[in-house]
Amino acid sequence: MPARRYHVQHMGPKPFMNPRGTRDFLGDDLVLVKHLERTASMVAGAAGYQEVRTPMFEETRLFKRSLGEASDVVEKEMFSVPRRGSEGADAMTNGFTFRPEGTASTARAYVQGGFAASAPLQKWFYVGPMFRYERPQKGRERQFTQFGIEAFGAQSASLDAEVVSVAVRFFKELGFDDQLQVRVNSMGDSDDRQQWSEALHKFFAKQMSGESKRCPDCQSRYERNIFRLLDCKSENCITLNEGAPNLFSVMGDEARSHHKEFVACLKILGLKVVDDPSIIRGLDYYTRTVFEVHYPPLGARSALCGGGRYDGLVEEMGGRPTPGVGFSVGFTPTELALAELGLPHQDCLADLKQDAVPQVYAVAVADEQRSELFALCEQLRAVGIRVELDHRSKSLKAQFKEANRSGARWAIVLGESEASSKQIVLKDMAEKSERTMSQADLASYICKA
Ligand code: HAM
Repeated sequence: MPARRYHVQHMGPKPFMNPRGTRDFLGDDLVLVKHLERTASMVAGAAGYQEVRTPMFEETRLFKRSLGEASDVVEKEMFSVPRRGSEGADAMTNGFTFRPEGTASTARAYVQGGFAASAPLQKWFYVGPMFRYERPQKGRERQFTQFGIEAFGAQSASLDAEVVSVAVRFFKELGFDDQLQVRVNSMGDSDDRQQWSEALHKFFAKQMSGESKRCPDCQSRYERNIFRLLDCKSENCITLNEGAPNLFSVMGDEARSHHKEFVACLKILGLKVVDDPSIIRGLDYYTRTVFEVHYPPLGARSALCGGGRYDGLVEEMGGRPTPGVGFSVGFTPTELALAELGLPHQDCLADLKQDAVPQVYAVAVADEQRSELFALCEQLRAVGIRVELDHRSKSLKAQFKEANRSGARWAIVLGESEASSKQIVLKDMAEKSERTMSQADLASYICKA
């Protein structure tokens, strides 16, 4: 959902607003995000992925090296800050960047932690904010949350299938039905990509000028990242891509059999698999498997998440050659998709909503009882009971109105006579009954109830 732009009437200086492409989370929006977070950790945990939390910012060179200088993210979307003490261009080159994604940081953490030697197979998940300086639009924000999983240390195609199955389970848990599709492709091994790149350069050369010229983005990518021409979204370029050489025509036996095994594994899991040669992914680190999970009823915004294998990334980060595979999903597009489908079912959110509702509302008959009532509330809070009370000197009538509005099951009422006898009136708001009891027994009574 887009950030609300509040209309604030003011006489003084311009009011402060959240930066474009960011949001404040509260109320129902926050409940939904918490539901996404717990669904993420539940599905990742069920498949044996442990949580990892890396810093929100890293050295800029980490992302340049891993995602690729010619990727959109590095070229146009980095939130970077200069390194203090460095001068001129060096200050930015040696500076820091708020992470635009999680794979590079986890690979850096894997190398830094020495896992290749001690425990090479590591399965990690993360949920946290990422930052991309994009033009904010539906489903795209400048700060957004990603849930991702990354598995290091095994090259088997069944691990690729496991990663896909976690992605699919995440959406199924949120209520998506069997129309979910896994669109797959392969980026082959590096020799394959070299041959493919040469074939593509030859094929596309004639489209760089003349009448059937490709778009300016493709022209600039022709030299820097030829594969990206294949996922250009311009209609003219999509037509011009017809007949372009396919990686599978030059792919070596190992990558080919890996892909075959991966697809077979997905089919055994009962997933709907679609071959899609236009899946190139915008980041340079991919090798072999690339995939996206789609939900076709969502039309143009059917892509829900993406990922793939990055067998050269750990070595690129200075570690031992170690294969890796993962995916990530943005909460923003997921929230949009859920809203469009009328999901999640409200009963899935009931417990999270309940956390914001007090169980007890405490009412003081007169101001003289307020401090004693506050102390009693603290005793209840200390044993985990959610208690609310008035801090704005409201009248007795207004306190009862507030108690009703709060949704609390009970109201406790302290008047002069109860205070002097160390008793309290407990009202059951649902059953419209009340009883007077000892203050000492209150917490255990409520806990038992
Ligand atoms: P990505 O395709 O760049 O891949 O991003 C993954 C997901 O993040 C997208 O499918 C989308 O849901 C979400 N996303 C990206 N940009 C934005 C944005 N500006 N606003 C809201 N959501 C956004 C990666 O990031 C790779 N690290 C995925 C991966 C993990 N590959 C292997 N392991």
